[in-house]
Amino acid sequence: MHGIFFEEISHGGEGGLYGELIQNRGFEESKIPEGCTLDSGFLVPPRTPHYSAGRVVDWKMPFEAKNDYPAWSLATTGGAVARLALDLSQPLYPETPRSLRIDIASMPRTANVAVINEGFWGISVQQGAAYTLTFHSRTEKYNGVMTARLVSADGKTLAEHVFERVQGSGWKKYTATLRAHASDAQATFQLVLSRPGTVWLDFVSLFPVQTFRNRPNGLRPDLAQYLADLKPAFVRWPGGCFVEGISPQSAPNWKKSLGPVERRPGTYSPWGYWSSDGLGYHEFLQFCEDIGADALYVFNCGVSCEMRSGVYLEDAHVDTLVASVLEAIEYAIGPQESRWGKVRAKQGHPEPFPLRYVEVGNEQVGERYAKRFNIFYKAIKEKYPQLEILAAMGIAHLSQPTIRAVGKMDIADEHAYKAAGWAMTYADWYDKYPRKDWRLYVGEYACNAGVGAGNIAAALNDATFILGMERNSDLVTMSSYAPLLENIHDTDWPVNLIRFDAGRSFARISYYAIKMLNEHKASVNLATQVSAPIDTVTPAFAGKIGLSTWDTQTEYKDVEVIQDGKVVYHSGLIRKEDWRLTGGQWEVRDSVLAQTKAGAWPLALLNTKSFDTYTLKLKARKTGGYNAF
Ligand code: AHR
Repeated sequence: MHGIFFEEISHGGEGGLYGELIQNRGFEESKIPEGCTLDSGFLVPPRTPHYSAGRVVDWKMPFEAKNDYPAWSLATTGGAVARLALDLSQPLYPETPRSLRIDIASMPRTANVAVINEGFWGISVQQGAAYTLTFHSRTEKYNGVMTARLVSADGKTLAEHVFERVQGSGWKKYTATLRAHASDAQATFQLVLSRPGTVWLDFVSLFPVQTFRNRPNGLRPDLAQYLADLKPAFVRWPGGCFVEGISPQSAPNWKKSLGPVERRPGTYSPWGYWSSDGLGYHEFLQFCEDIGADALYVFNCGVSCEMRSGVYLEDAHVDTLVASVLEAIEYAIGPQESRWGKVRAKQGHPEPFPLRYVEVGNEQVGERYAKRFNIFYKAIKEKYPQLEILAAMGIAHLSQPTIRAVGKMDIADEHAYKAAGWAMTYADWYDKYPRKDWRLYVGEYACNAGVGAGNIAAALNDATFILGMERNSDLVTMSSYAPLLENIHDTDWPVNLIRFDAGRSFARISYYAIKMLNEHKASVNLATQVSAPIDTVTPAFAGKIGLSTWDTQTEYKDVEVIQDGKVVYHSGLIRKEDWRLTGGQWEVRDSVLAQTKAGAWPLALLNTKSFDTYTLKLKARKTGGYNAF
């Protein structure tokens, strides 16, 4: 039952699980994701057809690439005159066209010019540890040495290698092992130049020699070990919203995450930063195998993240998408004589990987998705009957009349982010679910509101929730907590299972609750009664629709109003801008109203305030909890 769910969110992979220590190693991170535009520092994805009919505020996010070469800077001393520029003129590889150009106009004898990478909020350097440095450089206009250094926050050199012979034309690859003679958790990488001239740099990579299971291009050992110790039955990846992409064009493409890492163009995560895709399709399958877990691959079915833009690729593109996922499956489990099995074998893995599940999209709902799902289901089942195929919408959606269009499916993936006390109040939640020709995968669950960044109350809620799933294991056959990993310097989500910075990592209490329950599975169900006085365990309703505690986010998904144990109102997506609380009453935009059928509201419409704003009175107040997001 218990698996894990990995997504590129809060730098869980890039600057997290993936062992690379250099941020923006290929200088590709200033590019605008395909299909999006930049508007005064904000990234604007294509418009959502669903919303463009209304007057909902368009979604846009600050684009984090503040300059042309994020995470890189220049330091000059002793009167040296130098500058950095992004260069696209002579790419190392066409797929990754950007490089960094360093022009040093003048350099007195005692001067210094250093090109600096800050790592992922510092580089944690350990005394005695060795680091593999690789970079590519063009030096035809430079006649000096290059000194690579790891430098502590207070300016001390922790490791050094001097490249003496750097002349020649065209791109050249340089490698060295840097061994640290002292430690610092906040170190930087520096490439120091000694003479005036011009130098081009590309793909600067620094890896600890020791990675998880010592795989090249491998994983950060402490984080990977946390995951292995959970003994997950399966690993779901790569998302989450990440799968959906900020626009259909920029959604992840498994083929582009294969092969030489220098040639992978990267994927823009809807969480606001670039992934280098060094931790790509092959590496994930390898990780699953390394920790003895089945692989659950989630692929994009031609629709971008509904929270962001929700744009559907036209149906005409679906055949191409189907062909692509069949190829991805062949790469994972096809015989080594097959076209993609051959590619896998060439990558050093002739035997099939443990791919057991595939999921069609992430958190998509509605009739259009259902129709699309059916196409994928048929094509995949015909060729790979042994695979389990998951629908990205839950049973709650499947039971809705408009969405009955889903034909056959193996497992429904339903997500369950809950507020403090919810699991106690609704301890019998899954007991009441309809049993039909389906199984349920709770692909994302967590108690993540009213529990700070995750405390003992969260862990007790999660444990209670897990007991509810286990008690209904005829129906709920798989589960995974979300999100898994959080770099504390770039938090995209309020509560996460394992937190870390460049050098340290810390699993929350919920991690140990999941581990304990996974290691001690129940073999018998005893009748249980849970009594939890609603008023004390459930926060009052007013002012909480959309959970105002989560202030960094402007949209809320799957908001449910629950009255006497029943979901009386469900909204797939609302945004903070759509609602406001005035004098104890809610106001909502008509475009939101239009999404719900008349009579479906637990709220009474009182009066019209303006052209697109109504005042609503919340009748559901204090009736027993809410379901967050
Ligand atoms: O886990 C965080 C996000 O929550 C996922 O990306 C998405 O699937 C869900 O809405």
